[in-house]
Amino acid sequence: MITIGIDYYPEHWDRALWEEDAARMARAGAHVVRIAEFAWSRMEPEEGRFDFAWLDEAIAVLYRHGLRVILGTPTNCAPLWLYQDHPETVQWGRDGRPTALGIRGHRCIYSPVFRRYAGRIVEEMARRYAGRPEVFAWQLDNELESNHCTCPACTEGFRSFLKEKYGDLDTLNRTWGSQVWSGEVSRWDQITPLLGPENDTGWYNPAWMLDYERFAAACTADYVRFQSEIIRRYDPHAVITTNSCFCANLPDFHQEFAALDVAAYDNYPPIVLPEDPEALTSNAFALDFIRSFKQRNFWILEQLGGPMGCWGPISPAMEPGMLEGYALQAVAHGADLLSFFRWRTAATGAEMFCHGLLDHSNASNRRLAELEVLCRRLARMPELDRTDVVSQVALLYSAEQEFAFKNQPQSAGFAYWTQLRLFHDGCMNLGVNVDILPESASLEGYRVVLVPTHFITNPDVVARLEAFARAGGTVVVTNRSGVKDQNGNCILGQPLPTLFGALCGCHVTEYDAIGPARQTLTLPSGETCAITSWCDLLETDTAEPWAWYTGRFYAGTPAITKNHFGAGTAYYVGTVGEKALYRALLLEIFREQGIPALPSLPRGVEVTERSGPGGRYRFLFNDTLHTQTFPLDGARLKLRPLEVKIQTGEGDWL
Ligand code: GAL
Repeated sequence: MITIGIDYYPEHWDRALWEEDAARMARAGAHVVRIAEFAWSRMEPEEGRFDFAWLDEAIAVLYRHGLRVILGTPTNCAPLWLYQDHPETVQWGRDGRPTALGIRGHRCIYSPVFRRYAGRIVEEMARRYAGRPEVFAWQLDNELESNHCTCPACTEGFRSFLKEKYGDLDTLNRTWGSQVWSGEVSRWDQITPLLGPENDTGWYNPAWMLDYERFAAACTADYVRFQSEIIRRYDPHAVITTNSCFCANLPDFHQEFAALDVAAYDNYPPIVLPEDPEALTSNAFALDFIRSFKQRNFWILEQLGGPMGCWGPISPAMEPGMLEGYALQAVAHGADLLSFFRWRTAATGAEMFCHGLLDHSNASNRRLAELEVLCRRLARMPELDRTDVVSQVALLYSAEQEFAFKNQPQSAGFAYWTQLRLFHDGCMNLGVNVDILPESASLEGYRVVLVPTHFITNPDVVARLEAFARAGGTVVVTNRSGVKDQNGNCILGQPLPTLFGALCGCHVTEYDAIGPARQTLTLPSGETCAITSWCDLLETDTAEPWAWYTGRFYAGTPAITKNHFGAGTAYYVGTVGEKALYRALLLEIFREQGIPALPSLPRGVEVTERSGPGGRYRFLFNDTLHTQTFPLDGARLKLRPLEVKIQTGEGDWL
C-alpha cells in the first residue's frame, strides 16, 4: 500500500485543535504524520531543560486516530539561546562573516560545539521515542545543503581534509597547479574555503574549488551519519531518512544517503506551467533522480498541497487535478510514501501564505477533497508498493560534474543539469523508463547508458563503459567529456574526448562555444534540428557521421557520430540540441536495442511503468494544461489536463 502522510506542526496550534485535526486527517485517508522538525525551542526551552510533554501528547492524539509519526530531529533551527551563548555554532557565509540570525538553518553542521548540542537533543529524542510503535520513521534535520560554511571550524576542517589527502604542501601545490598567479601555498593556514562572491567563481583555482566542494559534501554526509548513529544506538531497526531538495549548494546525494535507509525528497512541481514547449519543467527528472540515491523506491516528505507564497508573491491556485496528478506522477516514478505539505496554512510566522491543504478558515475545500479522492484511488491498489521502476536505460550522474560545472561555466547557458534533463526528457517522451545512476553503479541489466558531459574524467568509468559497449550495449557520450582529470586539471596531449577516443572512434578538431546562439544540424532523415550552447567539430576515426552542422565555417562537419565498438555501439554528441534531437537519437538507439518505445506520445504525456511481485502498472500522465488525445495499443486515449490513468498488466484501468 502506498503510504499517505501529512506534514503537521502541533506546536503552531492550540491543543484544542489537535484532536479534530487528527480525526480529519485519518478520515481523509492518511496513515502517517510528519512532525517536530523545527521544534527545538519547544523541546529544550533553555539549555539542558527538556520538555517533551507536549510532543508526547501530540503523538498520543495522532496515534489514537491510527496515525503514526515520522519524527523530525529539530536541528535545522537551533533555539536562539544556543546561538547567543555559543556563537561558534552559527554558520558563516561566503563573505567570511557569521550569518545574520532570524530566519532558519543558521547552524554550522560541522562545528563541534553545534554537534554537541545537536547530538544531545537527538539523543534525548531517541531515548524517549526510538522503537516505540507510534514512530513510523525518522527525518534528520531539514533540506540539508552541502556545507558551504566558512566559519573557523570549517576552515580548519578543510585544512585537515587536505592534509589527509595530500600529506604535504608540495604534493598539494603540484596537484593544484598553484604556481599560476603565484598561488603556491607555503603554509597550511593560507588555505581558506575560497568561496568568494557567488558569481565570481571563475577567478579561483578550479582544482582548489573542486576539493573544497568535496570537503563540503563530505561534511553533510558525515552529519547525517552522526545523527543516524545516535538513533540507531536506541533502535537498530529505525527507518531513517532526510528530506532532500534541489538547493543552491547541492550535496553529493549518493554519499549523503549511504547511511540512511530510504531516499526522500520535497516535491514541489510547478504550479504555473510555461507555454514554451522547449521548457524542461517536468518533475519526472527530479523523481527519477531521487530514486537513484538508493537505487530503489523512495519517499516524498513534502508533497505540494497548496499554492506557494511567502518568500515571493502568492502563486496562482492549483488547477483541478493538479494535487492528484502530481502525487501520482511521483508514485509512477517510485514514490512509496507521500506526505503532503502541510495540513493547515500557518497563521503566524514567515510562511503564513505558503498554503497547506486547508486554508486559515479550516473549512474543507477542493484540495482536501482531491486528497481524499487520491487516497481512495490508491487504496484500490494495495500491492503497488511491491513494485519497482524497472529500466533498461541508465543516465549517469556524478556530483563531481555538478561541482566542476557550477564553478567553471563552459559556455553561456550551458549547464550539466540541462544536458541530463534533455536526455531524460527524450526517454520520457518515448515512454521509456530510465534510471539515473551514480557513476559507481553496476551497469548490469542495462542496454543503453547515457553519459552527458563526463567532464571530470574517471578512467575507471571509461573502462566500464568500454566493457559495456564491447558486450553489446549502447553508450552515448557528449561534448565536454574527457576534458579534465580527477584533480580538476585539463588532460594534456591528446585530442578530445581524450580517454573516450577509442570508444567513440572520433576526435574533436576544434570547438565553438556558441553560448545562447542558435544554429542547426541535419539528422540522418534529412530533417534539421536546432542546436545551441556548444559545437564540437568532429573528425571520424573508426566512427561514421550521424548528424552534420549546417552553418558557419564548419557546415557539413559531423556533429554526432556513431561507432561500432565490440558487439555494441558508441555515439558521440558534440552539441546541445532542442528536445527533438534527443527524441530522434534515442528512438534510433531504442530500435537498435529492441527497447519498446511509444513514438506516438504527444509532448507532455509521460508513460512510466512499475512492475514486480505486486503486479504491473502503467501510468499515463498528462503533464500539460490541455486535453491530449493519442493512439495507444491500437485504441485512442484521451487524458484531461493533469490526469493520470493507470492500467494494470491485465489491461484494466484503475
Ligand atoms: C520546504 C521546507 C518546508 C517549507 C516548505 C514551503 O523547502 O522544507 O519547511 O518551508 O519548503 O514550501
